[in-house]
This record gives sequence, C-alpha cells and structure tokens, in this order.
Amino acid sequence: MFVADRKLAWSLLGAAAIGALALMPARAEETFKIGLIVPMTGGQASTGKQIDNAIKLYMKQHGDTVAGKKIEVILKDDGALPDKTKTAAQELIVNEKVNVIAGFGVTPAALAAAPLATQGKIPEVVMAAGTSIITEKSPYIVRTSFTLPQSSTIIGDWAVKNGIKKVATLTSDYAPGNDALAAFKEHFTAGGGEIVEEVKVPLANPDFAPFLQRMKDAKPDAVFVFVPAGQGGNFMKQYAERGLDKAGIKVIGPGDVMDDDLLNGMGDAALGAVTAHIYSAAHPSQANKDFVAAYKKEFNQRPGFMAVGGYDGINLIYEALKKTGGNADGDKLIEAMKGMKWESPRGPISIDPDTRDIVQNVYVRKVEKVDGELYNVEFETFKDVKDPGKTKK
Ligand code: PHB
Repeated sequence: MFVADRKLAWSLLGAAAIGALALMPARAEETFKIGLIVPMTGGQASTGKQIDNAIKLYMKQHGDTVAGKKIEVILKDDGALPDKTKTAAQELIVNEKVNVIAGFGVTPAALAAAPLATQGKIPEVVMAAGTSIITEKSPYIVRTSFTLPQSSTIIGDWAVKNGIKKVATLTSDYAPGNDALAAFKEHFTAGGGEIVEEVKVPLANPDFAPFLQRMKDAKPDAVFVFVPAGQGGNFMKQYAERGLDKAGIKVIGPGDVMDDDLLNGMGDAALGAVTAHIYSAAHPSQANKDFVAAYKKEFNQRPGFMAVGGYDGINLIYEALKKTGGNADGDKLIEAMKGMKWESPRGPISIDPDTRDIVQNVYVRKVEKVDGELYNVEFETFKDVKDPGKTKK
C-alpha cells in the first residue's frame, strides 16, 4: 500500500512539474535572436524595406522555429548612417544578446559593424552591401548580396564585344562606386574601349542633371552608371529630361540602376538598357516565379535584388542553425555557413568556404517590355562567378 502511494505521489508530482513547465514562457536560451540593421528611412529606405519584407515572407513560409529554437528578429533602422549602425549593433549585441547581426544597406554600415562582430564572436550576415573588401574585415562576416566587380567586369567585356567604343562613367562617390568603376575600366580599356568622361556624384541626394549635361556633350556611345539601389528611378528621369536617350546614348552598368522595384516606373527611356547583374524579377526559374508571386501577393509590389539578398540571408541563418543542431555558438554557425549551397530565386548560389563571400551567376540583361511591363530580360549567363576583386591582392 505504502509503496503504491509513493508511486502515486511521484507521478502526481511529475504531472504537476510538466504542467508548470508548459505554463512557463520559452527560456531565454531557447530563443535565437537576429539583430536586423537596415535603412528604413532616408535615401536608402527601399533597401531596408525590401530586406525586411523578404525576411517576413521567408518566416511565414518556413515557420519561426529552427532546431528547437524560436527565431526572433529585432529590427533597427540605421538610416544607412554608419554611426547609427554602430550604436545599433552595440545595443543588439550587449543588451539584447543577439546571436547574429544582419542586414547592412550600404558598405559604410557593414564596415562599421565588423569590429563588433569580431569582438562579440557572432556572425554578421551582409545582405545588401557590395564592396569587395567587406568580407575581409572580420572572420565573422558572410555575404549573401554581391560584389560590384562581379558584374562590372562582365559588362566591361560585353561593351567591348558589342561595338561600344566610347563611354562616359557616372558613379556614386563611395567605396562600391569606386569598385564598380575600377573593375569596368580595367576590362573595358583592356579591350580597347575609351573613357571620355568620368564623373562621381555624392551618395546622399545626388542631383544628376549638371553631370548628365557634361556627359551628353562628350558624345559617348554609352554611359556606364553605378548608383545604389533606390536611386535608379531619379537617375533615369533626369537622363530622359536631358535627352540622352534621344541622343542615342545607351545606359550600361551593373544592374543596381535598373532595380526591379523601380524599373516599371522609369518609362520607355529605360528600354534597351543593358546591365550585368545577379537578379532579375524575370529570371525564368520555377523558384523565382514562386518567389515573385508570393512577394507580390504579400506586399503588392515586385521584389528587387535587395529582397533576394535578404531572403537568401535568412535562409543561410536557418540552414546553419539546422546544421549545428540548434547550437548558437558564433564560431560553429560560421563554420556551418562556409560552403553552403542552395537554389536561390536568382539561381544557384554558394558561400565560398575560403572567403565567406557569395559565388553566383551573373546575367547580362536588356530592358524590354513584357506584357506591358518593363523587365530586365536575361540573355547571357556567366556561371558561378566569384568576386574578382579578391584575386587581385
Ligand atoms: C553598398 O553601399 O555597398 C551598396 C548599396 C547599394 C547597392 C550596391 C552597393 O545597390
């Protein structure tokens, strides 16, 4: 009797303990926190919005639990100002104890966070910024966006082969613009091309008009343009207002200027622009068709390449956490991310295990009207392109 009572008492206790556990909120270590730092305001806000949207979409499709951990995203708006990026990263790492920092709409923001990722020993997943050097600034940086030399070298070669002899360049005057310009110039001039005018415009609130007049006067066959995501619409408006399209001056460049989220509003002046880039909303794979349809349904607009950088970045975090079996240790996560390969809406991609940078296809595309809308229609593919900026040291 006594023995049976004791058994009963234990099992009652056990049931009570399980009941109490079920009532308790998830313990802190059961949550995996991602600090997302992107510009949600200011001139680069479209980048932050695309990334935030894409992450929301991914989490809706894949759930918010990975390897037993509940995923929590804490969003901070840095307005693309590196001082604010730094403060946000500090606050996220020290107070919120995030397991990963991610986002980074511009190069100065990605660079500002690099020492903090190193000190905190946590991954910094760069989903937008595109200067070559970024991944070398911390062993904890992994990139899912692109580098400017990946596409600018290819458009340089393309221009030479397609009868473009004289080019005027217009680039945003900061690190990715300089990377784009150097890569283009090297390939274009090596093939016999000539740069007839070179202008650099400020990153913040650029007025392109006076520069465009100078470029028109130089009578080039084409203008090579790099402006960061979000500025292409304004550039193309002023390009048309100054009559460069009517003067037969083509637009070429990396694809940032023809960002899908603005392209359809650019009007016919954009028709015929040829750019090399890593993503087009018209990429004809099933994975992309599904992605574009889901994104449009959710947000009522077309995703651009920044959305894809965010979508792939959160996928990389999910898959790394699965691979570590839920272990959130920063070193283990970085090891898990190295060499990872998957099918992105942009095509097949992987993380180079030596550089932690993205390896991806670069497509040459031309703006055409498809069913009454403007799209970058891909016509040539360069497979598995590594960052050419890294082989040069
Ligand atoms: C960058 O700052 O690295 C950057 C931003 C937007 C782009 C490309 C590069 O479209």
